[in-house]
Amino acid sequence: MTGPRKLYIKSYGCQMNVYDSLRMADMLAPDGFAETKDVAEADLVVLNTCHIREKAAEKVYSEIGRLRVLKDEAAKDGRKVTIAVAGCVAQAEGAEIMRRAPVVDLVVGPQSYHRLPALLDQADRGERPVETEFPAEDKFNFLKNPTRDAIRARGVSAFLTIQEGCDKFCTFCVVPYTRGAEVSRPVEKILAEAERLAAAGVREITAIGQNVNAYHGDGPDGTTWTLARLFERLAQIPGIDRLRYTTSHPRDVDDSLVAVHRDLPELMPQLHLPVQSGSDRILDAMNRKHTRDDYLRVIERLRKAQPALAFTSDFIVGFPGETDRDFTDTLKLIEEVGFCGAFSFKYSPRPGTPAADMDDQVPEHVMTERLHELQLLIDRQMAAFNKACVGKTLDVLFEKTGRHPGQIAGKSPYLQPVQVMAPASLIGTIASVRIDDTGSYSLFGTLADEVGNRVPERPNLAALEA
Ligand code: 5AD
Ligand code: SF4
Repeated sequence: MTGPRKLYIKSYGCQMNVYDSLRMADMLAPDGFAETKDVAEADLVVLNTCHIREKAAEKVYSEIGRLRVLKDEAAKDGRKVTIAVAGCVAQAEGAEIMRRAPVVDLVVGPQSYHRLPALLDQADRGERPVETEFPAEDKFNFLKNPTRDAIRARGVSAFLTIQEGCDKFCTFCVVPYTRGAEVSRPVEKILAEAERLAAAGVREITAIGQNVNAYHGDGPDGTTWTLARLFERLAQIPGIDRLRYTTSHPRDVDDSLVAVHRDLPELMPQLHLPVQSGSDRILDAMNRKHTRDDYLRVIERLRKAQPALAFTSDFIVGFPGETDRDFTDTLKLIEEVGFCGAFSFKYSPRPGTPAADMDDQVPEHVMTERLHELQLLIDRQMAAFNKACVGKTLDVLFEKTGRHPGQIAGKSPYLQPVQVMAPASLIGTIASVRIDDTGSYSLFGTLADEVGNRVPERPNLAALEA
């Protein structure tokens, strides 16, 4: 192999893909691939795709169209550009991508990333491999530890995969088909990665998985650990000040998880807990395995344990058979809970899922109206939540320089972006900030020591270098 080759990875969809993209870059680094942010100079382009809704999948084909032009241009200069399609579209469509897009050199599903170097060799030989098997071996095997420099370049907040796949089979969802059965990563592997992240300056870890609170990993003591137990252990790692997790399922919120929300200060008081609908009839048709009341009771248990908790959720409007009354039930649930934000989507029939064949598909214009109404309500709740933060003092983890000179930006415990006039030396640390104002998206604040409060002492980055 000659000099360093340039790798450009584009991620679509969920945090799992963002994480997998980083790990693919880490895995290809020893083979001489250096990451670039400029697609025009790339020798290898990996599209890490999402299949969750139709629009997400279609985006991939438009991107491939653009890459075809780039590849032709490079070929004129005698340079070969390899195009790989990874992620859930790769898994779901496999060889169909090769047929539809002759410019693609290889297709690799999320279960087979460990085979990427071998598949690239095949592509170099002019073959067009398609790998979408679900191998029997450990599917977390492809995760290679990134170098300290690679972690630093990625910032102070990191994702860490602890679980993959889903056994829930909601009738609208492709995940159980593209990501396979639910598997938990062993505790020791997770701890090793977390310690490495902490040593390179990471302060916040978000544990990720499609069904993250179904976690049941093999512990070093021979027992099976819950997510709560894992968090208790992760919180002991010096330097790890903040823990989060996503995405969780209301069915898997057990008492131990509720208890760590009460007892672990490292566990941030913001939880993404998708409900999808507020109508029991629709929840049943969705095979969500919980009722509206079950969901409200989970929220109540969590709030009782940790009154500071704020919730976000996912909603689907226009699931087959959804009536105005069902939709009104969803709006009522939103009003009852009071969210600090949410993602909402029009139902998108996914080939191979049960809901795609259901009668009573909801017309597009009805979905558009419902989505608009739901989003207005969520926006109002989010604005009210942000406004309620004004005058309060919140801990902010500073991540980067801000929009204006002299400003730095970070995240509140509630994941709100916060902009503060403060020295760049505070990046990578947590400081108390008095919130003065809200914009449409960000909060603006002043370092609390400037208004008379103490900046809490936090682990010193330099002390962790050793
Ligand atoms: N149509 C619309 N939204 C969907 N989601 C999952 N599948 C579909 C679909 N077929 C949404 C759900 C899920 C989020 C990640 O994407 O709300 O929680
Ligand atoms: Fe999809 Fe339901 Fe599993 Fe979430 S819980 S990944 S929506 S099947």
